[in-house]
Amino acid sequence: VLCWFYIFPVYRLPRDKDIVEEVLRQGEAWQKNQTGIDHYRKLLTECCEPRKMFAVTKENSPMGKVLWYDGEFYHSRTVNNETYPLFVQENPLQLPLKKCAVVGNGGILRNSKCGRNIDQADFVLRCNLPPLSKDYVEDVGTKTHMVTANPSIVEKRFQNLLWSRKAFVDSMKVYGSSYIYMPAFSMKPGTDPSLRAYYALADTSSNLTMLFANPEFLRSVGKFWKGRGVHAKRLSTGLFLVSLALGLCEEVTAYGFWPFSVGLDEQPVSHHYYDNILPYKWFHAMPEEFVQLWQLHKSGTLRMRVGCCP
Ligand code: CDP
Repeated sequence: VLCWFYIFPVYRLPRDKDIVEEVLRQGEAWQKNQTGIDHYRKLLTECCEPRKMFAVTKENSPMGKVLWYDGEFYHSRTVNNETYPLFVQENPLQLPLKKCAVVGNGGILRNSKCGRNIDQADFVLRCNLPPLSKDYVEDVGTKTHMVTANPSIVEKRFQNLLWSRKAFVDSMKVYGSSYIYMPAFSMKPGTDPSLRAYYALADTSSNLTMLFANPEFLRSVGKFWKGRGVHAKRLSTGLFLVSLALGLCEEVTAYGFWPFSVGLDEQPVSHHYYDNILPYKWFHAMPEEFVQLWQLHKSGTLRMRVGCCP
């Protein structure tokens, strides 16, 4: 038995309770480590070229380029007259971004009073078109510079945009003039709703700019984390955004990342700050991701906010 163990060491994630205890021990004390930040940016640049590759652009995806879907086995779409005009010319962001806030949707944000801190960032990234209504402003802020939208949200919340587009266009107004980042070329069924979302915004002269996530970038980021022990079928949206921010920003603070059902005060925490709908169990590996993010917090590479803001 011992031999087997040495040949195939069993990877064991600490129990949720142990992770929570470790966070409590460490506290939120944080010391920025410029060497760590530079090192991680270099690693991410080498693997994934976030600056050039995070979105599908006319520059990185010219006519005839084959886009291989990152969430499907052997499925592709060739850039043609239909899709090429929908792409931005090149990375539209003014780089480097200074202070970035990546806002996950964890219930830990509830009553956190982190809204002001989040809004003080130079660039705010949010996940999955989260609600920003009055009830939440104090905890999650109001500003958004980039927000992801999963095609499945378009399907479920907006009847796939096959009927009226008004509800969709109206509900996007809360994100001001930000970029909406959609994985249009990740899963086959996601492409049409994403293209429809593009047209719904373009046809109504919306202030939002659509950026399609580049499947090559998503795949390389997935591999990067797999090599570091994140064994999920697919990374969570939040980890994609943190990876992007580490590549583009001088300083990154992450809020709302807490995939545990109890908080630091041992009180129950809902899954999201706006509901308690749990994710499909084996799809993401959020606790594994959290362990990675916490390592980065401890090494001063990014800052995690897991408690209330001053
Ligand atoms: O669709 P997905 O499950 O990726 O995301 P979500 O539930 O809309 O939440 C956005 C992101 O916040 C996730 O991708 C996670 O990275 C993070 N999150 C977390 O760390 N802890 C939670 N309890 C909920 C979300």
